[in-house]
Amino acid sequence: MQRWIVTGGAGFIGSNLVRQILATRPEVEVTVYDALTYAGHRESLVDCEANPRFRFVQGDICDGPALSAAVAGAQRVYHLAAESHVDRSIHGPAEFVRTNVEGTFRVLEAVRAAKGVRLVHVSTDEVYGSLGPTGLFTEETPIDPSSPYSSSKASSDLLVQAWCRTFKIDAVITRCSNNYGPYQMPEKLIPVMVRKALAGQPLPVYGDGLNVRDWIHVDDHNRGVLLAGDKGESGRVYNLGGEAERTNLALVKRLLAHLGRPESLIAYVTDRPGHDRRYAMDITRARRELGFEPEVRFEPGLDATIDWYQQNAAWCDAVEGNASHRAHLTRNYQQR
Ligand code: NAD
Ligand code: TYD
Repeated sequence: MQRWIVTGGAGFIGSNLVRQILATRPEVEVTVYDALTYAGHRESLVDCEANPRFRFVQGDICDGPALSAAVAGAQRVYHLAAESHVDRSIHGPAEFVRTNVEGTFRVLEAVRAAKGVRLVHVSTDEVYGSLGPTGLFTEETPIDPSSPYSSSKASSDLLVQAWCRTFKIDAVITRCSNNYGPYQMPEKLIPVMVRKALAGQPLPVYGDGLNVRDWIHVDDHNRGVLLAGDKGESGRVYNLGGEAERTNLALVKRLLAHLGRPESLIAYVTDRPGHDRRYAMDITRARRELGFEPEVRFEPGLDATIDWYQQNAAWCDAVEGNASHRAHLTRNYQQR
Protein backbone atom coordinates (compact mmCIF):
# COMPACT_ATOMS: atom_id res chain seq x y z
CA MET A 1 0.00 0.00 0.00
CA GLN A 2 1.12 3.53 -0.78
CA ARG A 3 0.18 6.39 1.53
CA TRP A 4 -0.72 9.71 -0.09
CA ILE A 5 -1.61 12.97 1.68
CA VAL A 6 -4.05 15.49 0.19
CA THR A 7 -3.84 18.89 1.89
CA GLY A 8 -7.07 20.82 1.42
CA GLY A 9 -8.87 17.54 0.71
CA ALA A 10 -12.15 18.81 2.20
CA GLY A 11 -12.34 21.64 -0.34
CA PHE A 12 -13.78 21.68 -3.86
CA ILE A 13 -10.92 20.27 -5.94
CA GLY A 14 -9.39 18.27 -3.08
CA SER A 15 -12.57 16.33 -2.25
CA ASN A 16 -13.03 15.44 -5.92
CA LEU A 17 -9.36 14.41 -6.09
CA VAL A 18 -9.76 12.10 -3.08
CA ARG A 19 -12.83 10.51 -4.70
CA GLN A 20 -10.85 9.97 -7.92
CA ILE A 21 -7.86 8.47 -6.09
CA LEU A 22 -10.03 6.03 -4.11
CA ALA A 23 -11.87 5.01 -7.31
CA THR A 24 -8.85 4.58 -9.58
CA ARG A 25 -5.89 3.71 -7.31
CA PRO A 26 -6.66 0.55 -5.32
CA GLU A 27 -3.06 0.47 -4.06
CA VAL A 28 -3.33 3.87 -2.35
CA GLU A 29 -4.45 4.92 1.13
CA VAL A 30 -5.39 8.62 1.27
CA THR A 31 -5.09 10.91 4.26
CA VAL A 32 -6.84 14.27 4.00
CA TYR A 33 -5.05 16.97 5.98
CA ASP A 34 -7.38 19.96 6.22
CA ALA A 35 -8.06 22.76 8.70
CA LEU A 36 -11.79 22.85 7.84
CA THR A 37 -11.93 26.58 7.24
CA TYR A 38 -15.15 28.12 5.89
CA ALA A 39 -14.25 26.37 2.58
CA GLY A 40 -13.63 22.86 3.94
CA HIS A 41 -16.49 20.46 4.62
CA ARG A 42 -16.66 16.85 5.83
CA GLU A 43 -20.04 16.82 3.98
CA SER A 44 -18.05 16.90 0.72
CA LEU A 45 -16.43 13.57 1.64
CA VAL A 46 -19.40 11.62 3.02
CA ASP A 47 -19.13 8.93 0.36
CA CYS A 48 -15.42 8.41 1.20
CA GLU A 49 -15.71 8.17 4.99
CA ALA A 50 -16.53 4.44 5.13
CA ASN A 51 -13.68 3.47 2.79
CA PRO A 52 -10.93 1.64 4.78
CA ARG A 53 -8.33 3.42 2.60
CA PHE A 54 -9.54 6.88 3.71
CA ARG A 55 -8.34 8.86 6.72
CA PHE A 56 -9.03 12.38 7.89
CA VAL A 57 -6.74 14.58 9.99
CA GLN A 58 -7.95 18.03 10.98
CA GLY A 59 -4.88 20.25 10.93
CA ASP A 60 -3.50 23.58 9.78
CA ILE A 61 -0.68 23.52 7.20
CA CYS A 62 0.97 26.32 9.19
CA ASP A 63 1.31 23.91 12.14
CA GLY A 64 4.73 22.46 11.23
CA PRO A 65 4.92 19.63 13.82
CA ALA A 66 1.38 18.34 13.14
CA LEU A 67 1.96 18.51 9.38
CA SER A 68 5.31 16.69 9.65
CA ALA A 69 3.67 13.95 11.70
CA ALA A 70 1.05 13.48 8.96
CA VAL A 71 3.61 13.52 6.13
CA ALA A 72 6.09 11.09 7.76
CA GLY A 73 5.98 7.74 5.97
CA ALA A 74 3.96 9.05 2.99
CA GLN A 75 5.10 8.60 -0.61
CA ARG A 76 3.24 11.58 -2.06
CA VAL A 77 1.79 14.89 -0.94
CA TYR A 78 -0.80 16.58 -3.16
CA HIS A 79 -0.81 20.16 -1.85
CA LEU A 80 -4.14 21.87 -2.48
CA ALA A 81 -4.80 23.61 0.86
CA ALA A 82 -5.10 27.33 0.19
CA GLU A 83 -7.22 30.39 0.51
CA SER A 84 -8.65 30.32 -3.00
CA HIS A 85 -11.07 33.17 -3.68
CA VAL A 86 -9.93 36.39 -5.39
CA ASP A 87 -12.71 38.58 -3.95
CA ARG A 88 -11.95 37.45 -0.39
CA SER A 89 -8.27 38.20 -1.00
CA ILE A 90 -9.18 41.78 -1.89
CA HIS A 91 -11.27 42.22 1.25
CA GLY A 92 -8.72 40.50 3.55
CA PRO A 93 -5.30 39.58 2.15
CA ALA A 94 -3.58 38.59 5.44
CA GLU A 95 -5.00 35.07 5.54
CA PHE A 96 -3.81 34.51 1.95
CA VAL A 97 -0.23 35.34 2.83
CA ARG A 98 -0.41 33.13 5.93
CA THR A 99 -1.95 30.04 4.35
CA ASN A 100 -0.64 30.22 0.80
CA VAL A 101 2.89 31.49 1.47
CA GLU A 102 3.74 30.46 5.04
CA GLY A 103 1.62 27.30 4.72
CA THR A 104 3.43 26.21 1.55
CA PHE A 105 6.76 26.91 3.27
CA ARG A 106 5.68 24.52 6.06
CA VAL A 107 4.64 21.90 3.49
CA LEU A 108 8.05 22.18 1.82
CA GLU A 109 9.87 21.82 5.13
CA ALA A 110 7.76 18.76 6.05
CA VAL A 111 8.51 17.19 2.66
CA ARG A 112 12.22 17.99 2.99
CA ALA A 113 12.40 16.43 6.46
CA ALA A 114 10.43 13.31 5.49
CA LYS A 115 12.74 12.35 2.56
CA GLY A 116 11.57 10.23 -0.37
CA VAL A 117 8.26 12.10 -0.66
CA ARG A 118 7.07 13.46 -4.02
CA LEU A 119 5.20 16.78 -3.79
CA VAL A 120 2.59 17.88 -6.31
CA HIS A 121 1.98 21.60 -5.79
CA VAL A 122 -1.39 22.58 -7.25
CA SER A 123 -1.30 26.12 -8.56
CA THR A 124 -3.19 28.38 -10.93
CA ASP A 125 -3.03 30.13 -14.31
CA GLU A 126 -3.70 33.37 -12.41
CA VAL A 127 0.02 33.61 -11.54
CA TYR A 128 0.59 34.71 -15.17
CA GLY A 129 -1.65 37.78 -14.87
CA SER A 130 -3.97 38.78 -17.70
CA LEU A 131 -3.96 38.15 -21.47
CA GLY A 132 -5.13 40.54 -24.17
CA PRO A 133 -7.60 39.36 -26.80
CA THR A 134 -5.14 36.86 -28.34
CA GLY A 135 -2.42 34.46 -27.24
CA LEU A 136 -2.11 31.74 -24.61
CA PHE A 137 -0.18 31.30 -21.35
CA THR A 138 2.72 28.85 -21.71
CA GLU A 139 4.99 27.68 -18.90
CA GLU A 140 7.52 30.28 -20.15
CA THR A 141 5.10 33.20 -19.69
CA PRO A 142 6.53 35.51 -17.00
CA ILE A 143 4.86 35.45 -13.59
CA ASP A 144 2.84 38.69 -13.35
CA PRO A 145 0.03 38.32 -10.80
CA SER A 146 -2.73 40.91 -10.26
CA SER A 147 -4.56 39.99 -7.04
CA PRO A 148 -3.50 39.23 -3.46
CA TYR A 149 -4.68 35.64 -4.18
CA SER A 150 -2.65 35.17 -7.35
CA SER A 151 0.42 36.88 -5.93
CA SER A 152 0.33 34.59 -2.88
CA LYS A 153 0.06 31.57 -5.19
CA ALA A 154 2.92 32.88 -7.35
CA SER A 155 4.99 33.27 -4.17
CA SER A 156 4.24 29.67 -3.23
CA ASP A 157 5.28 28.47 -6.70
CA LEU A 158 8.61 30.29 -6.35
CA LEU A 159 9.21 28.70 -2.94
CA VAL A 160 8.62 25.25 -4.46
CA GLN A 161 11.04 26.01 -7.30
CA ALA A 162 13.73 27.15 -4.85
CA TRP A 163 13.30 24.09 -2.58
CA CYS A 164 13.76 21.87 -5.66
CA ARG A 165 16.93 23.62 -6.73
CA THR A 166 18.52 24.17 -3.34
CA PHE A 167 17.35 21.24 -1.22
CA LYS A 168 16.73 18.77 -4.07
CA ILE A 169 13.24 17.90 -2.94
CA ASP A 170 11.16 16.04 -5.54
CA ALA A 171 8.31 18.33 -6.59
CA VAL A 172 6.21 19.24 -9.62
CA ILE A 173 3.98 22.28 -10.06
CA THR A 174 0.68 22.22 -11.93
CA ARG A 175 -1.02 25.44 -13.02
CA CYS A 176 -4.65 25.09 -13.98
CA SER A 177 -7.41 27.31 -15.30
CA ASN A 178 -10.90 27.83 -13.78
CA ASN A 179 -12.48 24.61 -12.50
CA TYR A 180 -16.17 23.77 -12.41
CA GLY A 181 -18.06 20.77 -11.06
CA PRO A 182 -19.72 19.50 -7.87
CA TYR A 183 -18.83 20.65 -4.33
CA GLN A 184 -17.59 24.14 -5.29
CA MET A 185 -18.21 26.75 -2.62
CA PRO A 186 -21.09 29.10 -3.60
CA GLU A 187 -18.77 32.11 -3.67
CA LYS A 188 -17.35 31.31 -7.14
CA LEU A 189 -19.10 32.29 -10.36
CA ILE A 190 -21.04 29.15 -11.34
CA PRO A 191 -22.52 28.09 -7.97
CA VAL A 192 -23.24 31.73 -7.05
CA MET A 193 -25.19 32.19 -10.26
CA VAL A 194 -27.09 28.87 -9.96
CA ARG A 195 -28.15 29.65 -6.40
CA LYS A 196 -29.26 33.18 -7.27
CA ALA A 197 -31.12 32.10 -10.42
CA LEU A 198 -32.99 29.40 -8.49
CA ALA A 199 -33.95 31.98 -5.85
CA GLY A 200 -35.12 34.41 -8.56
CA GLN A 201 -32.53 36.99 -7.42
CA PRO A 202 -30.42 39.26 -9.68
CA LEU A 203 -27.25 37.64 -11.07
CA PRO A 204 -24.32 40.00 -10.28
CA VAL A 205 -22.09 40.13 -13.39
CA TYR A 206 -18.94 42.17 -12.72
CA GLY A 207 -18.11 45.00 -15.17
CA ASP A 208 -19.21 44.41 -18.77
CA GLY A 209 -19.28 40.60 -18.38
CA LEU A 210 -16.77 40.18 -21.21
CA ASN A 211 -13.92 38.81 -19.11
CA VAL A 212 -12.87 35.41 -20.44
CA ARG A 213 -12.06 32.31 -18.42
CA ASP A 214 -10.78 28.95 -19.76
CA TRP A 215 -13.05 26.39 -18.07
CA ILE A 216 -12.07 22.84 -17.13
CA HIS A 217 -14.12 20.17 -15.38
CA VAL A 218 -12.68 19.35 -11.96
CA ASP A 219 -12.33 15.66 -12.90
CA ASP A 220 -10.19 16.58 -15.91
CA HIS A 221 -8.05 18.85 -13.72
CA ASN A 222 -7.58 16.04 -11.22
CA ARG A 223 -6.64 13.56 -13.96
CA GLY A 224 -3.90 16.04 -14.90
CA VAL A 225 -2.78 16.44 -11.29
CA LEU A 226 -2.46 12.65 -10.91
CA LEU A 227 -0.58 12.36 -14.23
CA ALA A 228 1.82 15.07 -13.05
CA GLY A 229 2.42 13.06 -9.87
CA ASP A 230 2.99 9.86 -11.88
CA LYS A 231 5.05 11.16 -14.80
CA GLY A 232 6.08 14.76 -14.16
CA GLU A 233 9.74 15.72 -14.14
CA SER A 234 10.92 17.09 -10.82
CA GLY A 235 11.21 20.87 -10.78
CA ARG A 236 9.00 21.25 -13.84
CA VAL A 237 5.78 23.26 -14.31
CA TYR A 238 2.78 21.82 -16.23
CA ASN A 239 -0.09 24.00 -17.47
CA LEU A 240 -3.51 22.35 -17.37
CA GLY A 241 -6.69 23.73 -18.92
CA GLY A 242 -9.88 22.74 -20.69
CA GLU A 243 -9.46 24.70 -23.95
CA ALA A 244 -12.95 26.12 -23.34
CA GLU A 245 -12.75 29.91 -23.35
CA ARG A 246 -16.06 31.59 -22.58
CA THR A 247 -17.00 35.12 -21.57
CA ASN A 248 -18.73 35.34 -18.19
CA LEU A 249 -21.79 36.71 -19.96
CA ALA A 250 -22.04 33.79 -22.39
CA LEU A 251 -21.70 31.37 -19.47
CA VAL A 252 -24.38 33.12 -17.41
CA LYS A 253 -26.79 33.25 -20.37
CA ARG A 254 -26.35 29.52 -20.98
CA LEU A 255 -26.91 28.84 -17.28
CA LEU A 256 -30.15 30.83 -17.28
CA ALA A 257 -31.34 29.04 -20.43
CA HIS A 258 -30.64 25.64 -18.85
CA LEU A 259 -32.65 26.62 -15.77
CA GLY A 260 -35.43 28.18 -17.86
CA ARG A 261 -34.97 31.60 -16.19
CA PRO A 262 -35.06 34.98 -17.98
CA GLU A 263 -31.96 36.96 -19.02
CA SER A 264 -33.60 39.97 -17.34
CA LEU A 265 -32.16 38.56 -14.06
CA ILE A 266 -28.67 39.66 -15.20
CA ALA A 267 -27.49 42.70 -13.21
CA TYR A 268 -24.24 44.46 -14.19
CA VAL A 269 -22.45 45.48 -11.00
CA THR A 270 -19.27 47.37 -10.10
CA ASP A 271 -16.21 45.60 -11.47
CA ARG A 272 -13.65 43.74 -9.34
CA PRO A 273 -10.53 45.90 -8.77
CA GLY A 274 -7.58 44.57 -10.80
CA HIS A 275 -9.94 42.20 -12.64
CA ASP A 276 -7.91 40.08 -15.09
CA ARG A 277 -9.48 40.32 -18.56
CA ARG A 278 -8.66 36.97 -20.08
CA TYR A 279 -7.07 33.63 -19.16
CA ALA A 280 -6.29 30.87 -21.68
CA MET A 281 -3.86 28.00 -21.34
CA ASP A 282 -1.48 26.36 -23.78
CA ILE A 283 -1.49 22.73 -22.59
CA THR A 284 0.95 21.38 -25.19
CA ARG A 285 3.55 20.37 -22.59
CA ALA A 286 1.08 18.40 -20.45
CA ARG A 287 -0.30 16.73 -23.58
CA ARG A 288 3.12 15.75 -24.88
CA GLU A 289 4.92 14.84 -21.66
CA LEU A 290 2.09 13.56 -19.45
CA GLY A 291 -0.46 12.29 -21.99
CA PHE A 292 -3.01 14.75 -20.54
CA GLU A 293 -6.24 15.34 -22.48
CA PRO A 294 -9.35 17.11 -21.16
CA GLU A 295 -12.33 14.80 -21.72
CA VAL A 296 -15.43 16.68 -20.53
CA ARG A 297 -16.93 19.08 -23.09
CA PHE A 298 -17.91 22.39 -21.51
CA GLU A 299 -21.63 22.77 -22.29
CA PRO A 300 -22.72 19.25 -21.26
CA GLY A 301 -20.37 19.49 -18.27
CA LEU A 302 -21.89 22.83 -17.25
CA ASP A 303 -25.43 21.48 -17.60
CA ALA A 304 -24.58 18.46 -15.42
CA THR A 305 -22.97 20.77 -12.85
CA ILE A 306 -26.03 23.03 -12.73
CA ASP A 307 -28.19 19.92 -12.20
CA TRP A 308 -25.90 18.79 -9.38
CA TYR A 309 -26.40 22.08 -7.49
CA GLN A 310 -30.17 21.80 -7.97
CA GLN A 311 -30.18 18.22 -6.71
CA ASN A 312 -27.83 18.92 -3.80
CA ALA A 313 -29.52 21.95 -2.26
CA ALA A 314 -28.98 20.40 1.20
CA TRP A 315 -25.19 20.48 0.69
CA CYS A 316 -25.43 24.10 -0.50
CA ASP A 317 -27.60 25.10 2.48
CA ALA A 318 -25.14 23.44 4.88
CA VAL A 319 -22.02 25.15 3.51
CA GLU A 320 -23.77 28.49 3.11
CA GLY A 321 -24.65 28.42 6.81
CA ASN A 322 -21.03 29.20 7.69
CA ALA A 323 -20.75 32.65 9.36
CA SER A 324 -17.55 33.65 7.54
CA HIS A 325 -19.17 32.79 4.21
CA ARG A 326 -22.31 34.80 5.00
CA ALA A 327 -20.20 37.79 6.06
CA HIS A 328 -18.28 37.57 2.77
CA LEU A 329 -21.45 37.58 0.66
CA THR A 330 -22.79 40.61 2.52
CA ARG A 331 -19.52 42.54 2.22
CA ASN A 332 -18.87 41.57 -1.39
CA TYR A 333 -22.29 42.16 -2.90
CA GLN A 334 -23.71 45.00 -0.78
CA GLN A 335 -20.95 47.38 -1.80
CA ARG A 336 -21.25 46.75 -5.56
P1 NAD B 1 -11.28 25.58 -1.76
O1 NAD B 1 -11.29 26.96 -1.19
O2 NAD B 1 -12.57 24.98 -2.21
O3 NAD B 1 -10.64 24.57 -0.70
C1 NAD B 1 -9.51 24.89 0.05
C2 NAD B 1 -9.34 23.83 1.15
O4 NAD B 1 -8.14 24.14 1.88
C3 NAD B 1 -10.50 23.82 2.16
O5 NAD B 1 -10.88 22.50 2.43
C4 NAD B 1 -9.89 24.48 3.39
O6 NAD B 1 -10.47 24.02 4.62
C5 NAD B 1 -8.43 24.08 3.26
N1 NAD B 1 -7.53 25.00 3.96
C6 NAD B 1 -7.51 26.37 3.86
N2 NAD B 1 -6.56 26.88 4.66
C7 NAD B 1 -5.96 25.83 5.27
C8 NAD B 1 -4.90 25.70 6.20
N3 NAD B 1 -4.27 26.79 6.70
N4 NAD B 1 -4.51 24.47 6.59
C9 NAD B 1 -5.14 23.35 6.09
N5 NAD B 1 -6.17 23.42 5.24
C10 NAD B 1 -6.57 24.64 4.82
O7 NAD B 1 -10.23 25.62 -2.95
P2 NAD B 1 -10.21 24.84 -4.35
O8 NAD B 1 -10.97 25.63 -5.35
O9 NAD B 1 -10.55 23.42 -4.12
O10 NAD B 1 -8.67 24.97 -4.73
C11 NAD B 1 -7.73 24.01 -4.31
C12 NAD B 1 -6.36 24.37 -4.83
O11 NAD B 1 -6.38 24.45 -6.24
C13 NAD B 1 -5.88 25.75 -4.33
O12 NAD B 1 -4.50 25.64 -4.04
C14 NAD B 1 -6.11 26.67 -5.52
O13 NAD B 1 -5.19 27.72 -5.53
C15 NAD B 1 -5.88 25.71 -6.68
N6 NAD B 1 -6.60 26.04 -7.92
C16 NAD B 1 -7.96 26.26 -7.90
C17 NAD B 1 -8.62 26.53 -9.10
C18 NAD B 1 -10.13 26.72 -9.14
O14 NAD B 1 -10.68 27.02 -10.21
N7 NAD B 1 -10.85 26.55 -8.04
C19 NAD B 1 -7.90 26.58 -10.31
C20 NAD B 1 -6.52 26.36 -10.28
C21 NAD B 1 -5.89 26.07 -9.09
P1 TYD C 1 -14.41 33.36 -9.87
O1 TYD C 1 -15.32 32.19 -9.92
O2 TYD C 1 -14.32 34.16 -8.62
O3 TYD C 1 -12.97 32.85 -10.33
P2 TYD C 1 -11.62 33.69 -10.71
O4 TYD C 1 -11.76 35.08 -10.21
O5 TYD C 1 -10.57 32.94 -9.94
O6 TYD C 1 -11.48 33.58 -12.19
O7 TYD C 1 -14.83 34.37 -11.04
C1 TYD C 1 -14.87 33.93 -12.39
C2 TYD C 1 -15.22 35.15 -13.24
O8 TYD C 1 -16.56 35.54 -12.91
C3 TYD C 1 -14.35 36.35 -12.96
O9 TYD C 1 -14.13 37.05 -14.19
C4 TYD C 1 -15.18 37.22 -12.02
C5 TYD C 1 -16.60 36.91 -12.45
N1 TYD C 1 -17.64 36.97 -11.39
C6 TYD C 1 -18.79 37.74 -11.59
O10 TYD C 1 -18.97 38.37 -12.64
N2 TYD C 1 -19.73 37.76 -10.59
C7 TYD C 1 -19.58 37.06 -9.42
O11 TYD C 1 -20.46 37.14 -8.54
C8 TYD C 1 -18.40 36.28 -9.24
C9 TYD C 1 -18.17 35.51 -7.97
C10 TYD C 1 -17.46 36.25 -10.26
